[in-house]
Amino acid sequence: MRPVSKELADKVATRRTFAIISHPDAGKTTLTEKLLLYGGAIHLAGSVKGRKADKHAASDWMAIEKERGISVTSSALQFSYRGIHVNILDTPGHQDFSEDTYRTLVAADSAVMLIDGARGVERQTIQLFKVCRMRGIPIFTFVNKMDRAAKNPFDLMAEIEDVLGISARPMNWPIGTEGDFQGIYHRETGEVELFEADESHGAKIVESVRAPLDAPEIQARLSEYYKSNLADEIELLDGAGDELDLDRVARGELTPMFFGSAMNNFGVEAFLDKFLEFSPAPFGRESTDGLIDPASEEFSAFVFKIQANMNPAHRDRLAFIRICSGTFRKGMEAFHVPSGKKLRLAQPQQMMADERESVEIAYPGDILGLFDPGVYHLGDTLTEGSAFSYEGIPVFAPEFFSRVAPEDSMKRKQFVKGISELAEEGAIQTFRRLDIGREEHIVGVVGMLQLDVLRVRMKSEYGVDLTMDSQPFHFVRWISEGPTSGLSLTSTTRYAKDSEGQIVLLFENEWSIRWALENNEGLVLKETASRNHEAVHD
Ligand code: G4P
Repeated sequence: MRPVSKELADKVATRRTFAIISHPDAGKTTLTEKLLLYGGAIHLAGSVKGRKADKHAASDWMAIEKERGISVTSSALQFSYRGIHVNILDTPGHQDFSEDTYRTLVAADSAVMLIDGARGVERQTIQLFKVCRMRGIPIFTFVNKMDRAAKNPFDLMAEIEDVLGISARPMNWPIGTEGDFQGIYHRETGEVELFEADESHGAKIVESVRAPLDAPEIQARLSEYYKSNLADEIELLDGAGDELDLDRVARGELTPMFFGSAMNNFGVEAFLDKFLEFSPAPFGRESTDGLIDPASEEFSAFVFKIQANMNPAHRDRLAFIRICSGTFRKGMEAFHVPSGKKLRLAQPQQMMADERESVEIAYPGDILGLFDPGVYHLGDTLTEGSAFSYEGIPVFAPEFFSRVAPEDSMKRKQFVKGISELAEEGAIQTFRRLDIGREEHIVGVVGMLQLDVLRVRMKSEYGVDLTMDSQPFHFVRWISEGPTSGLSLTSTTRYAKDSEGQIVLLFENEWSIRWALENNEGLVLKETASRNHEAVHD
C-alpha cells in the first residue's frame, strides 16, 4: 500500500477539475468568464473577452479562431470559490478538434455541457458529447441564453434524452422562456429566485431575491401568469421526471440540468453552487501499478497537452500536466518514467484569468504548464521515483490525408522542425511514403480544419508557406504482425512509415483493408500505433 496523507485527502476533497463542451457560439467564453467573476478571479466581466480580442490581433493562428468563431487552443484556468479550488479546462468548440477535446477530458473529472436554449442540441454538441461519453465522466448541463426566446424546457429535456441518450434531471426550472426570463425555481428547496437586472449588463454579480414561492416578496413580484404556469410545470416535472440519483450522475447516465443566462449572470451562481456540490473531487486513477489514490504522498502526474509557441513573444513550448497524487512544489525534481531520467520541473505556471502565474505548490486535480525543452510527450507519466505509468493518451485514427511540402525549398529545415513539433503536440500525425524514391511528407488529421490550422501555424510560427495536396486515403493501419513488405494489396494501397518509424498501410477504402487481410496470411493490422496508446473512434 502506498502511504496516504490526511492533509492531502483534505486538499483533494476541495478540488474540482472540469471541462466545458459546447457548440461554437453557445456562450462558453461568456460562461467561463462569469464563473471567474463569481470566483473573484476577475472583478468586472468583459476583461477576458477583451484580452481574447488582443490575442487575436497578436497572432494569426488566433485569427483563425476569430474568423471561424471557434476556439482552437485549450488552456486551463483556475479560481477559488467558497473554499473549493476550481480548475476549468477549455476545449475547442469544433468537432474537427475532438481529439484535442478527448485529451483534455482525460485530464478532467467531469464535464459541463453548455447548450443554447434557443437552438437546443446542435450538431457539434452531439459530436463532443460522444467524446465525453467515451470518457465515462459525469456530465452537467447548463442551458444558456434563457434571456432570449428559448425552446420549451420540456422539449429541451426530451431533446437531450432522445438525441444524446442521457436522462436529464432539471435542478432548477426557468420562469419566463419567451424573452421574459424572470428567474428560476429551485426544485430541491421549493424556493424561487427572481433576478434584478442592473445597469452593468452582466459585468457585475447580479442581485436576486430568493424565498419560498409563497413568501410575500415573491408573491408580490411574480404575476399570476407566471405563478400558475410554474405550478403546472412543476407538477408535470415532479410527476414524470427522473429522481436525482448521484450514482447515475457519476456513471454519466443522468445529467443534472440548469437554466440561466451567462450574459446577464442569471442562474450562474445557482449553477456553480450545485455543480461544485455534486461534481466529483479527483478520484483514483488506473496505472500499470493499479489504482493510485490521489491522497498518496508520492507526487504523480501525466502530460495531457503540449503546446508550442503559445506566446509569440517567447516561442516557448509548454507541457500541461494534470497532477494525480501527492504535492507539487516549485523546483522539485521528478522522475520522468518514459526516459527513466530525473527532471527538474521548470517554470511551473497556472493561468489565472488570462495571465500566467508562477506556482509554488499544487495538489491533485490541479493543472500546470511546465516549460518543455523538448523532453515531454503526450501521455508521459511523472512520479517521485516509482516506475508506474498512467493509461496512455489515446490517438484518434486520422481520416484525412494531405501531402505537404514547403513552397520554398530553401525553407526545408524550418518545415521539418515545424511539422515534427506540431506532430509532437498531437495537432497532426505524420507519415512518409515508402514506395516512391523522393521524400514525401503525408499529414493525417481527424478533421479538415486541423489542416487549416497547420497551414496558418506553419506560416506564422515557422515562416513556411505550405503546398498541400489532398490524398485519396481515408484509413491508416499499423502492421502489428506479418510481413512488412511484399504484401498482396489493392493497387490503391500504399506503404508508409509513421513518425516513430513503424510501418503502416494507407488505404482508400474499407474494401482494400479487407482485401489485405484476406490475401495475406498471418497479417494483423491495428488501428493505432503500438505505443503507449489505445485507439478511439469518433
Ligand atoms: P463561445 O465561446 O461558446 O463561442 O460563445 P461566446 O461566449 O463567445 O458567446 C457567443 C455569443 O453569444 C456572444 O455574442 C455572446 O455575447 C452571446 N451570449 C453568451 N451568453 C449569452 C446569454 O446568456 N444570452 C444572450 N442573449 N447572449 C449570450 P456576440 O454578439 O457574438 O459577441 P459580443 O459582441 O456579445 O461579445
